[in-house]
Amino acid sequence: MAGDATEEQPQPFDAKRLDSAKRRKHSDSPIANGGSSSNRGNSRGDDSHNRNGKKPSLHDEGEYPQPFDAKKLEPAKKRQRSTSPSDAPRRQKRPGQRARISNSEAASIRQRAEQREREAAASIGAAVAQGGGPGGLRGINEIVREHYNAVPERGRDWRKTGSRIKGLRVFNNWVKSTLIQKFSPDEDHTPGAHERGRDMAGERGHELLVLDIGCGKGGDLGKWQQAPHRVQLYVGLDPADVSIDQAKERFRSMGSHGGGGRGGRGGHRGGRQQQHLFDGRFYAKDCFGESIGDIDVIQQVGFDPTPMGRSGFDIVSMMFCMHYAFESEEKARMMLQNVSSSLKKGGRFLGCIPNSDVIGDRVTKFNERAAAKKKKSESTEEAAPSTEEKEEGEAEDTAEWGNELYRVRFPGKTPEDGIFRPPFGWKYSFFLDEAVEEVPEYVVPWEAFRAIAEDYNLELQYHQSFRDIWETEKDDHILGPLSERMGVRERGRGPLLVSPEEMEVANFYVAFCFYKV
Ligand SMILES: C[S@@+](CC[C@H](N)C(=O)[O-])C[C@H]1O[C@@H](n2cnc3c(N)ncnc32)[C@H](O)[C@@H]1O
Repeated sequence: MAGDATEEQPQPFDAKRLDSAKRRKHSDSPIANGGSSSNRGNSRGDDSHNRNGKKPSLHDEGEYPQPFDAKKLEPAKKRQRSTSPSDAPRRQKRPGQRARISNSEAASIRQRAEQREREAAASIGAAVAQGGGPGGLRGINEIVREHYNAVPERGRDWRKTGSRIKGLRVFNNWVKSTLIQKFSPDEDHTPGAHERGRDMAGERGHELLVLDIGCGKGGDLGKWQQAPHRVQLYVGLDPADVSIDQAKERFRSMGSHGGGGRGGRGGHRGGRQQQHLFDGRFYAKDCFGESIGDIDVIQQVGFDPTPMGRSGFDIVSMMFCMHYAFESEEKARMMLQNVSSSLKKGGRFLGCIPNSDVIGDRVTKFNERAAAKKKKSESTEEAAPSTEEKEEGEAEDTAEWGNELYRVRFPGKTPEDGIFRPPFGWKYSFFLDEAVEEVPEYVVPWEAFRAIAEDYNLELQYHQSFRDIWETEKDDHILGPLSERMGVRERGRGPLLVSPEEMEVANFYVAFCFYKV
C-alpha cells in the first residue's frame, strides 16, 4: 500500500526550500502567512511542471498540498514566550486562493472518482461473497477498502435532510465534536506539570498537529477547524483512495469558503472562530498492516517508537475505524505502534469503537437462549423424539441482533460468557442502513485493548458509552448549545431529535481518550 501514498501527494523533501524557510524564520512562518501551504513552492514539488507538462502558473500553486516543514514549528514555539503571533496582524490570504482549482481539473478529479466508485461497486459484491477471511480470495483490507470507496458522497444537504439516519449522523458527529472539544486542548500530562504551571492549555500561540487515521472522506475536517485550539497541520490517512480524493476535495472547498468551516460554532473554550484554514495532507495508506513511518510528513513531524519521543503529533484521532485492526494481534500491535510512534509525549489518542460490553451482553443472552432452547428440545425429544433432525452441514444459529437500521451477525460460535478470548479475530458482519453494507468487522475487547495499549505507553484517560456522553455533556454550556445547532435536539433544550432506533445504534459505540506517557 505504500505505493498508494505517493499518488497526488507532496513531493520529496526539498532541502533548498528548507534553507529559504530558515532565512524566512522571523518573517514568514506558516502562521504569519495564514497557515497556507500554497506559497511554499510549486504544487508538484519535484520539478516546475504540472501533470499536463505545463509550467504551473501562480494560480496552480495553490492547488495541491505542499510538503510539511517541521522546522517551521520552531519559530512558533519560540514566539510563545514573547509576543503572541495572534497579537500581530495576520497576513491573511485572499479567501479561497489556496483551494481554487480550475474547472477542468475539478471535472477530471470528479470523473476519476466516479469511475473508481463504479469499479469498486461492481467488485464489492463479489468480494463479500468470497468471504474475505483466510479462506476467501480477498483479504479483509481489500473488502473494507472497496466498500468505503464505493460509498457515494451525497453531500451535506442530503445528509441533513434526505437521509433516513440523519438523527444518528448528527448525534455521532456531535459525539466526535465533543471528544475533539474535550481532549484536544494541549495539556502537559507529565507528573507535576500543573504544579510547575506547565499546563499548556492556557498558553497562547500553541497550534495543534493532528493525525486522523481512517479519515475517510474527511468528515471531521470541519470539526477540527472548530477545535478549541487552532490547528496548524491536519494529516488524514485512509486506505480507501477514492475516499482520500473526496477528503482532498472537501478540504479544497473549505479553503474556497474562506477557511472558516461552517462557522458559527466557535471553540469550546472562549467561543473562538478559526479564520484561517490549517495545512492539510492526505494519503492513501493502510495504517494497520504496515508502518506509517515512511510518509514524509509523518517523519518530519516526528515518528519515534521510544517512550522518550518529544516531537510528534499532539493528537492522533481514530474515529469508527480501529475495529478493523483487531483481525489479528499483529495488526492491532502495528496500529498501536503507529499511533504511539506518531504521538509526542503527552499527546492524546482519541477515538470511538464498538462497545465490547454491549457485544458481550448480546452474545451472552443469545447463548443463554440457545442453551435453554437446546435443553428444552432435548427433554421434549426424550419424551417424543423429533423427526426434524438438523441436516449434516446445516448451519447452527449464530448470535445476531439489530433493528430496522442496523444488524450485527456473527458467522460462527461466540463465547458463552461473552468474554472474547483470545482478544483478536472475532469477526462479525455489520450492516448500517445507507452507510455500511455487511462489512466484516472485529470485536475490540476493551480490557485487552487497554492492557495492550499500555505496552505502547498509552494510558487511559477517558472511556464512555455514547449514551453516557449524551447524559453527561448535554447540559454543558458549550456542548449543549452545540447539540442544538447541530440538530441533535430541538432549540431551548427541547426534545432529542434522535429516534430510539437510532439511539440503539449509537449506543453500540464507546469513545475513548488515551495519552502518551
Ligand atoms: C466508518 S469509516 C470512518 C471514517 C471517519 N473516521 C469518520 O468518522 O467519518 C471507517 C474508515 O476506516 C478506514 N480503514 C479501514 N481499514 C483501515 C486501515 N487498515 N488503516 C486506516 N484506515 C482504515 C476505512 O477505509 C474507512 O474510511
